[in-house]
Amino acid sequence: MKRRKVGVIGAGFVGATTAQRLAERNVADVGLVDIMEGIPQGKALDLEEAGPVVGYGARVSGSQSYDVLAGSEVVVITAGMPRKPGMTRDDLLKKNAEIVGGVVDQVKKVAPDCVLVVVSNPLDAMTYLAYKRTGWPRERVIGMAGVLDSARFRSFIAMELGVSLRDVQAMVLGGHGDTMVPVARYATVSGIPITELLPKEAIDRMTQRTRDGGVEIVNLLKTGSAYYAPSASVVSMVESILLDEKRVMPCCVSLKGEYNLKDVFVGVPVVLGGKGVEKVIEVKLSADEQKALEASAAHVRETCAALDRVTAA
Ligand code: APR
Repeated sequence: MKRRKVGVIGAGFVGATTAQRLAERNVADVGLVDIMEGIPQGKALDLEEAGPVVGYGARVSGSQSYDVLAGSEVVVITAGMPRKPGMTRDDLLKKNAEIVGGVVDQVKKVAPDCVLVVVSNPLDAMTYLAYKRTGWPRERVIGMAGVLDSARFRSFIAMELGVSLRDVQAMVLGGHGDTMVPVARYATVSGIPITELLPKEAIDRMTQRTRDGGVEIVNLLKTGSAYYAPSASVVSMVESILLDEKRVMPCCVSLKGEYNLKDVFVGVPVVLGGKGVEKVIEVKLSADEQKALEASAAHVRETCAALDRVTAA
């Protein structure tokens, strides 16, 4: 059987941890690219040297050249500037648009058939940029946000109830930012709706903490932003694609009328398989939830319009 390969662009905190998790799960070789001279090479070698101890055989190659991505079935884009304290995701727009735009042009050349998973922020706008710039079908250009936001929501529910993190399921829809929509009605603990287990006050508090989840980590770290949960989230998506697992995960995709939204990138539940997004799942939303999703989509549209302006300038 042919060896599988996953490309990771950006060998910073999120990218390098993604490469580590992929190698440790032994599902694919990894090609790691960064503009910083020596960084992807050093981290790739370090990861290979961990293989004999941890017990994986995945090969990891690092380079400034995109050639190491040749043959990648999935490419993860983490290149960019991380958010600093006091900086909103939208402040990053212009800088990261230049970075991600350049990266996408290179990926298109070396891995023209891959599924792209975008992680760089502001997430929804960067996914839109990658979609426009590649001209690929929406199935192959996916943003990672919902899995992370849902993981945060799930953790807060588990902490509040004092139950295992593993038993909590929950879904966060919408854009990756202050307008995201944690849907408490669909959150469960081993199948029990959390609305049966927690008062509204506690649910509202956790919903807000989820919206502020990224900022909470930034404020604690002072320099840099979260990377353990982001890399774990992206790896779960990559695995579902590589292994054709058809997992149902909230992902940022271009909507074509689902949820009454068209030509906008927001997080919705999808089936992730070998072809990328194989299906968008439309769940029934209450009037308030639908209103919140539409407001979130409107915010994403504004950011994408701003992106069009800054990239045209
Ligand atoms: N090509 C390749 N790599 C680049 C480029 C480029 N044009 N520009 C920047 N990089 C690299 C940087 O050299 C750095 O190693 O991207 C990496 C980013 O890593 P970090 O600064 O450690 O940031 P990280 O915490 O990994 O976050 C990356 O993911 O979650 C999002 O908001 C976060 O947009 C940010 C991204």
